[in-house]
Order: sequence, then C-alpha cells, then structure tokens
Amino acid sequence: ISKVVIVACGTAAYAGEIARYAIEKWARLSVAVELAHEFRYRDPVIDAGTLVIAISQSGETMDTLMATRYAKEHGAKVLAVCNTQGATLARESDAVLYTHAGPEVAVASTKALVAQITAGLLIALYLADVRGAQPAAELQRLGLELLKLPAKVTETIAIAKIGEQLGETFKDAKSVLFLGRNVGFPVAMEGALKLKELAYIHAEGFAAGELKHGPIALIDQGQPVIVIVPSPNAPDSLNAKVVSNIQEIRARGARVIAIAEQGDQSVADFVEQVIYLPSTEQLLAPVLQVIPLQVFAMALASAKGLDVDQPRNLAKSVTVE
Ligand code: M6R
Repeated sequence: ISKVVIVACGTAAYAGEIARYAIEKWARLSVAVELAHEFRYRDPVIDAGTLVIAISQSGETMDTLMATRYAKEHGAKVLAVCNTQGATLARESDAVLYTHAGPEVAVASTKALVAQITAGLLIALYLADVRGAQPAAELQRLGLELLKLPAKVTETIAIAKIGEQLGETFKDAKSVLFLGRNVGFPVAMEGALKLKELAYIHAEGFAAGELKHGPIALIDQGQPVIVIVPSPNAPDSLNAKVVSNIQEIRARGARVIAIAEQGDQSVADFVEQVIYLPSTEQLLAPVLQVIPLQVFAMALASAKGLDVDQPRNLAKSVTVE
C-alpha cells in the first residue's frame, strides 16, 4: 500500500486522528483521516494501493458504510475496526479487527473509544513491523509499553474521580475550551464533543499552536479551558510550548485545568487544578487522557441533572444520512 485513508464519524473519527499520528510516526506511511460523509461525496483519489480503515463502534453508521462501499468500488482494500460482532461494516469489509469493548449501552462512546484508539495503535505497530519501518527492538519496546496500559487505565479511572468534583464548579459555564498539541489535539476535540453531547455546553477543541491565530480572542475572565499537556519527555519541546500557552491564557483570566503526566512540575503554578496521569509513551497517552475528559463531561451533566446515558436528540447508531 502507498497510503492509508481512515474514514469514520464523530468520536470514531477522533480515534482515527490519533491513529494517524502513530501510523505516520511508526510505519512511515501517509495517512488521511476523513469524515465519512465528506469523503464519499468529494470524489476522493483512492486506488488499489490505498488501505481504507473504517472505524465504527456500531458497524452500522450509514455514512461510514457508504464510504467503504465507495472505497471498494474504487479498488481499495477495507479494514474495519468495529465493536459489534457480525455488523454490516464487518461483513462488507475485506478484514475486521474487533475491538471487543463489550456492549456499549450509553449513547456517548467511552470505552469503545479507548478500544478504538488501542486498535489504531496496534495497526500502526503492525504496519511498522511488516514494512520494516522501525528497528525490532523499538517495536518490542513500544509493544511492552502497550501491555502496561490496562493497569494504567485502571489507575487513571481512580485518578479521574477528581474530575467529578469539577462538575459543580463548572456546571454554569456557557462555554468550555479544550487545548491540545500533537496527538493531544484530537484528544482535545473529543473532550469538547463529549461535553456538548452530555452537558449541552458549547465546547471547542483547538490545537494549542493555533491559539494566537484566532481562538485566544475568546479568552476572557473566568473562561474555563482544559489543557492536555504533553509529557516533559515529548520531543520538540512540546511540553514547554504548551506551558507557555497556558501562561498566555492564564494572564487573560482563563480558569485552567491541566491534564498532565505524573512528575511534571512545569504546570502546577499556572493552573487551577492538575489531573496527573500515569506516564507512558507520548503516542499511547491518549488512551489515558480521554478518561478524565469523559468523567468531566459526565460530572457536568450530572451536576445539571441531565441523563448522561441518553442525551437528548442523539441515537446510539446513526443509520441514516
Ligand atoms: O457507531 P459509530 O462508531 O460509527 O458511531 C460514530 C458516531 O456517531 C459516534 O462516535 C458519536 O459521535 C458518539 N455519540 C460520540 O460519543
């Protein structure tokens, strides 16, 4: 294959964005992530050298199904990442990687997302392996880090309870902004989507580097901002760059909650609260980072007396256009 195109909708598309960082970094393959409903009507350039990865919890999302049918008609191979045994997407694809998250009853995607991100990381490692894109020792190191994640997820679920206290604090917020950088950017967008869905609060996720290009104009006294802070070990001084963003928004009155790595001393002085998560490899961190954001959305919804399992106007599976 010469390129990968990931098609999905909503939260599944954010899992795809996270997979993109890992596939490009580890397997050295070009990846595009497309919202399925945009992809199918855009006359996209795909051929037999394209691997299309379709991510869907339900496997019945009409737009994702139609995008994969388009891809197959144009000669691409389709790999489904699906949580539902025997779903239409799984049956129509050339291969399927089941996420085995178990039935997800609530409308909002939570554990399914964690499993989708993990599946994306596994695909990235597999592609890196078969393409010989990384030394075997590096792949082994990354694989071992991945194996440590279940215990770290358990730890994170306990830590994320801090997020529950934030429900009362922010329940009257009119808008909440989320900032992330690199693989933390799709995490930020997912945090915003979860808050919209569950708590009916306007929320936007931004790439932290984009702040000065517009979004900083939104920062006013008391504006809540959740920041996903890269590990101090992340390359390219990303941690320091995001800490600098935090200082900028703090100076303009933002109330900042940071999601940072345990042991990171750089943020505590500039924020209202830090939620410290277990340390892991940079590209694996989203598996943990999405959890306190899910708890935060649930806490705000609960504080507002809303039904977190059945939000208004939403269906679990969107089987029409
Ligand atoms: O079943 P799918 O994964 O294809 O569903 C895709 C989206 O409809 C879904 O992720 C939606 O965005 C969720 N409500 C998010 O919590």
